[in-house]
Amino acid sequence: MNSYLVCFSPECRTKYPITEPIYECKKCGSLLEAAYDWNAEKTATWKQVWRERRLDNSPLNQSGVWRYREALPFLPDTDHVVTLREGNTPLLSAPHAARYAGLDSLTFKHQGFNPTGSFKDNGMTCGVSQAVRLGKKRVACVSTGNTSASMAAYASAAGLQAIIFLPHGNISFGKLSQALEYGALTLQLEQNFDQILALVRRIAEAADIYLLNSVNPFRIEGQKAIAIEMLDQLDWQVPDWVVMPGGNLGNSSALGKGFLELRNLGLIDRLPRIGVVQAIGSAPFYEYMSSPDGSAFRPVSSPETLATAIRIGDPVSWQKAMSVVRQTEGVVESATEQEIADAKAVIGRAGIGCEPASAATLAGICKLVRKGVITRNAKVVGVLTGNLLKDPDYIYRYHTNTLKTPGGELLQSNFANQPKLVSSNPDELIELLRAL
Ligand code: F0G
Repeated sequence: MNSYLVCFSPECRTKYPITEPIYECKKCGSLLEAAYDWNAEKTATWKQVWRERRLDNSPLNQSGVWRYREALPFLPDTDHVVTLREGNTPLLSAPHAARYAGLDSLTFKHQGFNPTGSFKDNGMTCGVSQAVRLGKKRVACVSTGNTSASMAAYASAAGLQAIIFLPHGNISFGKLSQALEYGALTLQLEQNFDQILALVRRIAEAADIYLLNSVNPFRIEGQKAIAIEMLDQLDWQVPDWVVMPGGNLGNSSALGKGFLELRNLGLIDRLPRIGVVQAIGSAPFYEYMSSPDGSAFRPVSSPETLATAIRIGDPVSWQKAMSVVRQTEGVVESATEQEIADAKAVIGRAGIGCEPASAATLAGICKLVRKGVITRNAKVVGVLTGNLLKDPDYIYRYHTNTLKTPGGELLQSNFANQPKLVSSNPDELIELLRAL
């Protein structure tokens, strides 16, 4: 299978060898993507092969990414694969959340079940495997937390040095702790994510680091597997909508690429519509997609949201995400801090739980149902991107009525579940429990 890198810009499309360690087109500066000369005749067997691999105990087939390797055939030698058995994340039906959103049914694809607790593992297994193939010794990323946790784990598993750059004070403690425990060199800067990413992209070559942000096209290849696994789990019945949060917009680009390629290869006959939801204080993509044709894309210079994972004002992949939203007749929505906080508590009450950024998915679905964009009987899959335990501080504040917006405004804890201090006197305890 011939694979190569190609410039994403439709006007340029310059090709590069798959082993060239670059992240942007040398001619026009656009992002790159991995592309393949597919052999279409063979795809007829893929679904069956993928299903059978679930019964196989080899690491490659146990991975919910590499099991689908025919759809991401950029790595000729599987000895280079670094896997922690990522993917394999469940589809969970959530009637409680469906009722809240005004839908007949709602299914979540919960990426928080990954080895480091977020969807980043799907991409990182591919990014780090490519780093091994290229003989790289040091990998690096800028992160709002999850990418760094994931990269730290995969780099250590591969015996590579991990260097991570973080916006000081603006990542959750759970994620920072993961990076430390997995052994990454952790550098905190007094700038926001966008500023640090621009800086690190500038110095990557001189500093001899292999960048594993979502500008890295192999990250996107791995995250494509979220779409493939979802359809495999749905017995290839395409949902009407797939909705997810948007920050740097790598994930929506990746899932979109996955659905488009599956359609082009004849594995599905139609596309789901993609919904991307941004937090209102960090919503340049929402603003752009809602503005009149011909408007320029305007980054948000001081993005704010309590959903720190998506506190991003200048998303690098907005053109890729725009292409996906347009081709799937998708939409972009925004959600307030209050909407995200309540949606998150509702997902918790469904027995599922997620981190704040992930709850933007449900907050956005609610709005799109209210606006009549998503109909009550639509088949909707919401992607939950991160695990509940990523940000326990946020949860505690919500349930104790002390959660404040970045501007200092107290949020309503509409579904608060306060811990209670009680007496240890047995009679008083019995009385309390009987009175419930
Ligand atoms: N949800 C979570 C939990 C995230 O960590 C991120 C991004 C997103 C959604 C948005 O995905 O950027 O592909 O649009 N986190 C990155 C990080 C930026 O550094 O961990 P996106």
